Amino acid sequence: MTLIKAGIIGAGVAGGWHALSLKKIPEKVQLAFICDIDEKKGKRLKRTNKEANILTDYKELLARDDIDTVHICLPHFLHAEVTVEAAKYGKHILCEKPIANTLEECDKMIEATKKAGVKLMIAENQRFLPALIKIKEIIGKGTIGDIKLVRTYEGGSEVASMSDPNSWKCKWIEGGGGAWMDSGVHRIAVLNYLIGDIKSISGHAEKLLSQCEGKADDNCVMNVQFESGALGEIAISFTVASDWNCSLELYGTKGTILENHNWEKPIKLYSTLPGPNRCEWVEPEVFHEPYPGYYRISFLEEIKHFYDCVINNKEPEMSGEDGKKALEIVLLGYESAKSGKRIYRKNK
Ligand SMILES: NC(=O)c1ccc[n+]([C@@H]2O[C@H](COP(=O)([O-])OP(=O)(O)OC[C@H]3O[C@@H](n4cnc5c(N)ncnc54)[C@H](O)[C@@H]3O)[C@@H](O)[C@H]2O)c1
Repeated sequence: MTLIKAGIIGAGVAGGWHALSLKKIPEKVQLAFICDIDEKKGKRLKRTNKEANILTDYKELLARDDIDTVHICLPHFLHAEVTVEAAKYGKHILCEKPIANTLEECDKMIEATKKAGVKLMIAENQRFLPALIKIKEIIGKGTIGDIKLVRTYEGGSEVASMSDPNSWKCKWIEGGGGAWMDSGVHRIAVLNYLIGDIKSISGHAEKLLSQCEGKADDNCVMNVQFESGALGEIAISFTVASDWNCSLELYGTKGTILENHNWEKPIKLYSTLPGPNRCEWVEPEVFHEPYPGYYRISFLEEIKHFYDCVINNKEPEMSGEDGKKALEIVLLGYESAKSGKRIYRKNK
């Protein structure tokens, strides 16, 4: 098999995780180019990916015909522009979450990649965490019955970037929002995957700690109703003092699942169905590591999936349309926070 040649555009935090994952599948992909407008950042990444060449102009990278795939690890406002351009050059695209800042941008990205016949996958690493795939399997077997109530949380500290006027992160214009846009979109994608579509949302998104002008929310609580009728609560905080974490509680008519990324064994399952562990808490075996290991695992699984799709011409699990669906709910959440009203999903 010919080695696929990849380029990373954006050599910041996410670019680092992508580069690390690519190093683990050298039999399939070679990271040939790293591009960042800040040359120092590109060079820093090259220290661990010595074979890669450094560029500072993403258009130069896209114009190269020895590049097959691009990993777009840029600030949110650049995702659409660079995806559309990459599609014109026939590159397969793995674009970081959120897909973009607006639904119009999503449509342009989806249209451009379809027209060019290239893959567009949204890098929603949480959907590829083995623990969540296991939970999807447990739900599918009916072990906890019909889910009626869901609670989920993601949090950590972004106090430094929220306080830095030069950082694009959590700025309304470049980031499209704050904690809700940045991490809320992860949890929505996970809920769409596990439970299904959301039909309405209401909640709060507040800037409680940051004094920085132009920055959006650092804490939010949203409640949703799924098409199935189930209710859900999503809490996101960027002002947490302890390690980054995500958690999930699923309450069904026949059982309960509790999940926490920072537990050694991340899933606790209780089921009333007949069987050897009826009405007992069990901890199913699954490959997992608490922070920061779960990042390493989920990024690698996501990137392996992308290359499986490219090599074997499959449709990615997290498509442009899936990315757009998650973004739509995030935007409705902001609309609700602003208006104080429950908002219903329109584009079904
Ligand atoms: N999946 C995850 O868990 C996860 C974690 C972190 C970030 N992200 C996502 O990754 C993306 C990037 O976030 P980040 O935290 O890495 O940001 P970052 O600021 O650390 O990195 C972005 C990089 O892009 C570079 N850049 C900006 N404009 C450019 C241009 N025109 N051409 C080339 N390079 C340019 C910057 O110099 C910077 O190095 C965002 O979409 C973010 O939401 C995802």
